[in-house]
Amino acid sequence: MCHFEKKAREVLGRCDVLEKLLAFEKDFLGKKGDLTSFLKELKSLSAEDKKKIGPKLQSIRTELTQVLYLKKTAFESEALEKQLQSDWIDVTKAYNLQNGNIHPVALLQRRIETIFTSMGFEVADGPEVETEWNNFDALNIPSTHPARDMQDTFWIGSDASDSKHNVVLRTHTSNIQIRSMLRDGAPVRIIVPGRVYRNEAVDMTHDATFYQVEGLLVDKGISLAHLKGTIETMLQRLFEKKIKIRFRPGYFPFVEPGLEVDIWFEFIDKSGRKRSRWLEFMGAGMVHPNVLKNCDVDPDVYSGFAFGFGLTRLAMLRYGIDDIRLLFSHKKEFLTQF
Ligand code: DAH
Repeated sequence: MCHFEKKAREVLGRCDVLEKLLAFEKDFLGKKGDLTSFLKELKSLSAEDKKKIGPKLQSIRTELTQVLYLKKTAFESEALEKQLQSDWIDVTKAYNLQNGNIHPVALLQRRIETIFTSMGFEVADGPEVETEWNNFDALNIPSTHPARDMQDTFWIGSDASDSKHNVVLRTHTSNIQIRSMLRDGAPVRIIVPGRVYRNEAVDMTHDATFYQVEGLLVDKGISLAHLKGTIETMLQRLFEKKIKIRFRPGYFPFVEPGLEVDIWFEFIDKSGRKRSRWLEFMGAGMVHPNVLKNCDVDPDVYSGFAFGFGLTRLAMLRYGIDDIRLLFSHKKEFLTQF
């Protein structure tokens, strides 16, 4: 038995690959292995010998089994490691990974929001499907008014006799003037960037869907001077230089007086020459008393200004984009330039 124990240890020590280890297991510890037959032979021994040899055999068996187990798991994990090394696949190679970037309109919207919030404005929004009343009537544009023709409208439902139940796709974000004042009253200081819809034939400069920014400030003692200062500050910060602006009389039913604001726009033309000209930039004015009344704000106590401009158009100016259709074309080559 001493001889067996020595031999078993030696053979086990020499097992340097998994196959040898498995052979050892079979030869020494397996059903027909040496140790198993020793254990079987115990039966024929005297009680005294059994007592002597039995525990010894058991302890050899335990020890060998443990060493075998440790070696086996070591070999197995080594083999697994090797296999992982050779079978390794870079799953990310299946994708042409690219970072996205921010759409030029969203980029500009964020900048405008930053500028206005730093001046104490809040960013407001509301539904794009709007009642006729919020979109038109409450803004002092009754159905008989020729100003309705200025905005070709997508009607969703126009059968109701009452404009609070007829529904349109909002033609401007001025609707939020009404929603905001009806909910919160005055004073109010908001900008409303958002998507609007017009029933337009699409070409280089027109789209049926585009973005606007509306502004509204109502408080005590507000005058045109506040409007001028606010717009100048915004433009200067947006274009990162002093921008020359001019006011002309303009007509919008929801403001009185109404203004058109032009900016002195400098650009490089197609032949590479530096050019400049006045460019219509936005509509603005002092909020019409009828609008305040429609929103339960007392025009004898409060006054305010409002303005509205095309965010999509501004993005085209700011980034020199000459075809509006490119903006929503989902063309990667175009969009990754910003
Ligand atoms: N809502 C007008 C439009 O879509 C733009 C506008 C003009 C907004 C004058 C105003 C304003 O607040 O005072 O054409």
